[in-house]
Amino acid sequence: MKQTSLEKIILETIDIPSLPPIAMKVLQLISSDTSSIKELEEILSKDQSFSARLLRIANSPYYGKNRSVDSISSAIILIGFNTMKSLVVAASLKDMHRNFGIFEQKLWEHSLAVSLAASAIAAETKMMKPDEALVAGLVHDMGKIVLNTSLADSYALVIERAYAEGLPFLDIENDVLGFNHCNVGGLIARKWKLPKNLETVIEFHHTEDLSVLADTSYEVSCQITRIADAICLHLGIGFKRDIDIANIGLDSIGYDIKKIDKLIEKIKTTYEEQRTTLLQ
Ligand SMILES: [Fe+2]
Ligand SMILES: [Fe+2]
Repeated sequence: MKQTSLEKIILETIDIPSLPPIAMKVLQLISSDTSSIKELEEILSKDQSFSARLLRIANSPYYGKNRSVDSISSAIILIGFNTMKSLVVAASLKDMHRNFGIFEQKLWEHSLAVSLAASAIAAETKMMKPDEALVAGLVHDMGKIVLNTSLADSYALVIERAYAEGLPFLDIENDVLGFNHCNVGGLIARKWKLPKNLETVIEFHHTEDLSVLADTSYEVSCQITRIADAICLHLGIGFKRDIDIANIGLDSIGYDIKKIDKLIEKIKTTYEEQRTTLLQ
């Protein structure tokens, strides 16, 4: 009940954005039972820059080290239709921004760093597929893009306060707007019929008590995204906050804190390697 009334408020306050037309077409096609790889390739061939972006994500180092994906059809065969859905959304994010200024750049750097950190953690702990962690990281703060685009004036105030007060965006959003980027992101993920694992990460990546989840199989991806987010805030890539690394819940995924320095080095190196190529 509570969730329903909150969603009502959000729907009355913001315009639900649509995905870029190319992404919409691809998602519709993937969702229909009769879709074929050929049809998908035909649509994607009409937008070279979008296809190139999609392939760049499919070729990112954590997506699979020993292969090079050079066509959309081989990407679909290797990755599968369902993961392709997530990839399409990730590749669309840049087109969803109203404009691309300093905040947008920082949000992009943050999301990229979180995605690389999440997939590094996934690869090391073997608790989830690194490619799924990568896409989840790229889209986890999608609600912020929507808020920043749809409620530009109030969100400018949120950004200003988050920087000035050094507090989490989530708290300031709740204070200024009465809802936050997780509520908004979750709602939109449902509207767009995104895969359930992605929807859950978008909605619950700041939730500490994950017993609220109806399906516990998504717990790990939420935890890994939350921990990756905290590490990147600690490192100050994109956004920066004072975070005590000993207190970010590494034990919840059975991660040995002694290994954190090595992990941090790996994240920094991969980020530097990837930042100019991924999601350009
Ligand atoms: Fe977030
Ligand atoms: Fe984040």
